[in-house]
Amino acid sequence: MGKDVIIACDFASAEDVFSFLDRFTGKKPFVKIGMELFYAEGPQIVREIKKRGHKIFLDLKSHDIPNTVKKSMAVLSGLDVDLCNLHASGTIRMMEAAIEGLTRPDGTRPLLIAVTQLTSTDQESMEKDLLIREPIDQVVLHYAKNAKLAGLDGVVCSPLEAGKVHDTCGKDFITVTPGVRFADGDIGDQKRVMTPAEAKKIGSDYIVVGRPITAAEDPVAAYERCVSEFCD
Ligand code: C5P
Repeated sequence: MGKDVIIACDFASAEDVFSFLDRFTGKKPFVKIGMELFYAEGPQIVREIKKRGHKIFLDLKSHDIPNTVKKSMAVLSGLDVDLCNLHASGTIRMMEAAIEGLTRPDGTRPLLIAVTQLTSTDQESMEKDLLIREPIDQVVLHYAKNAKLAGLDGVVCSPLEAGKVHDTCGKDFITVTPGVRFADGDIGDQKRVMTPAEAKKIGSDYIVVGRPITAAEDPVAAYERCVSEFCD
């Protein structure tokens, strides 16, 4: 599994994302497109960024009945995204249906990973709102095992969980980890953070980095710093 830095392109319009990407002359970073940009610009934004030569993680976190997820995954597969995701809480059957929808007639498909429990959910809200009473780290690992059983390629998780996920699901099961900050940077609204070097040490396969790159004075230098701390 090749390690890579994925830039979270949390911009509100195509214009903003293109003026950001134009700064990377000669480089084609792996980018994440989230709900905000996708809902604002539609599938054309995926086609255009793909045409510019970037790999794309489309972060839409699907969660619906299996048949609907299967059909929507077939659309994403046709858009030729490289990585997409869903909520593991949609059940193993839903995840299996997603794999079916994503798989092209020639047997290829984009990578598919699962969100276990969102990092914004804590033990208290899980117990009170969702009536799930197990310890949250056990729930995360249980959902990761379900994702593996359904044939998914990995999970989105906190960098703090990546080691345990690999111990439980194997080292080839991909961990994609947001919540990354430079040692000398602002942590903003993230609570549990790690530096790119720490995320590398703990075994994350991909780090998702937003504001430390997008809000930097020199985004290209910040991206290169991430790559050299995490990948080299
Ligand atoms: O700007 P920052 O580096 O905090 O961006 C992190 C990105 O990863 C955002 O797009 C955020 O939505 C996403 N993310 C996250 N925590 C999760 C899942 C996704 O921060 N558990």
